[in-house]
Amino acid sequence: MSDGQLTTRQGHPVYDNQSLRSVGERGPATLENYQFIEKITHFDRERIPERVVHARGTGAHGYFEPYGRIGDQPAATYTRAKVLTRTGVRTPVFIRFSTVIGSKDSPETARDPRGFAIKFKTEEGVWDLVGNNLKVFFIRDAIKFPDMIHAFKPDPVSNRQEPWRFYDFVMHHPESLHMVTWVKSPWGIPADYRHMQGSSVNTYKLVNDQGEAWLCKFSFEPRLGVRNLTSGEAAEIQARDVGHATRDLHDAIERGDFPEWEMCVQLMSDDAHPELDFDPLDDTKRWPEDRFPLLPVGRVVLDRNPSNFFAEVEQAAFGTGVLVDGIDFSDDKMLQGRTLSYSDTQRYRVGANYLQLPVNAPATPARTNQRDGQMAYHVDAAGENPRVNYEPSSMGGLRETDRTAREYHPWVEGHLGRYQTTRTADDYRQAGDRYRSFDERERDDLIANLVEDMKACPEHIALRMVWHFWHCDEDYGRRVAEGAGLDLEKARALPPLPGKPPPGRNRPGSTYTSGKREGTASQAAAE
Ligand code: HEM
Repeated sequence: MSDGQLTTRQGHPVYDNQSLRSVGERGPATLENYQFIEKITHFDRERIPERVVHARGTGAHGYFEPYGRIGDQPAATYTRAKVLTRTGVRTPVFIRFSTVIGSKDSPETARDPRGFAIKFKTEEGVWDLVGNNLKVFFIRDAIKFPDMIHAFKPDPVSNRQEPWRFYDFVMHHPESLHMVTWVKSPWGIPADYRHMQGSSVNTYKLVNDQGEAWLCKFSFEPRLGVRNLTSGEAAEIQARDVGHATRDLHDAIERGDFPEWEMCVQLMSDDAHPELDFDPLDDTKRWPEDRFPLLPVGRVVLDRNPSNFFAEVEQAAFGTGVLVDGIDFSDDKMLQGRTLSYSDTQRYRVGANYLQLPVNAPATPARTNQRDGQMAYHVDAAGENPRVNYEPSSMGGLRETDRTAREYHPWVEGHLGRYQTTRTADDYRQAGDRYRSFDERERDDLIANLVEDMKACPEHIALRMVWHFWHCDEDYGRRVAEGAGLDLEKARALPPLPGKPPPGRNRPGSTYTSGKREGTASQAAAE
């Protein structure tokens, strides 16, 4: 048989791919028709479940190259992770960009946060960051995630995304106001994936050789700058193309126009920071960049398109628990909750052996005693004796690795219970700061979008939202109320939300800038 000739998966030559076997010209067909059965039953199984969130996305391969320094210090001052400290040594990466709520083929012009998930295939194993473009999130406790997603996804009866369901959830969660202010502005519709920031959103820790740790947030600043769309601009694009961002990324890479981001960190000492009016472990807050500057760490370049979308993009599996030595968890409760969810869903969505697939497998060999399961593609590298699939053993099995660096060993103590952060004043302040930092076009678009949404909500939800916006900034609340024809005084007279402290209202904003005006030290030098 020559290379171009069709076979079954069993390797049998296919002599006729046009007709199934039947008794005579008019049938019936027969059940021993293996070639047909293999073909059609495999087809029946072509689709795997789409991601429960972030189903619409695309991705590309590239590399990360560290500068070897973090700010004015050698990177090793803060972390022993080789991927961040070895000046100029390139680590292969794969990035998947996504929208959140829509299904697999939904329009990429959706008003939605954008996912920014990056997989580093380091020499010490895989490191994933699974973040977004807006640097904050709607909620700060993982137990709320299924409720939040249910409220944002289509109505179970009408199968439509309904504004009242979204705001019904949001009105009970002042911590969402910051993210809502971002998402309802033009920042909620990035022009494409190349002109978009990325960030870890959650707080991690960097750990150095001495076992000292720093709280850390990661972000990615696009060399091309940030571009967003108003609702009107997005509608025009959507009328022509529902996959414009996928096309843009693919075509740019094909023509050699490789998108690039500068990776930065923000650092804070590893303690509770009672002096701040927000909790550094609260992912609904930004760390003000004037106090916690973006420190460049390296650059990320995407220079290769996937050769097969299903194998490399659909089956890609990122997780917040996938860390290398020198990068550690913080006690951010969203981060901890997410860490269970990702690998759990991937064992269901892709299969128990999803980590054996080339896009997910580490660049270094995985040597484990994990065996079998559905679709085991190969046996993970074993010790000298393949008959020993357990540890410890005196018969040549795998051994534990010697620890070379000092173990990071934080002290943990407290009463087991269910807690919400008490530092809630900033739920309103950062949202107000955001409103005040927008330029006129951004603010007009934000108000127009909210007004349209408020008109589609029952009055009690719309009034409570105006109450929230007014506590963020008086002008913000007033403009939404006026636009939607709501009685501002009636909204202002509402009592505080049951069980929540009254908002610390209209405090002057800190001076930190919106993402668009952010620049990193090395970007400034290049300009
Ligand atoms: C407790 C909160 C959260 C839970 C339980 C959760 C859960 C999930 C699940 C189950 C998936 C599908 C993964 C897959 O099928 O491979 C997913 C995807 C994703 N999530 Fe979350 N998520 C949470 C919060 C967040 C936050 C705060 C962010 C942003 C910082 C985020 C960013 C993403 C991204 C970017 C993806 C797509 C990854 C990809 O491209 O494959 N998620 N999430």
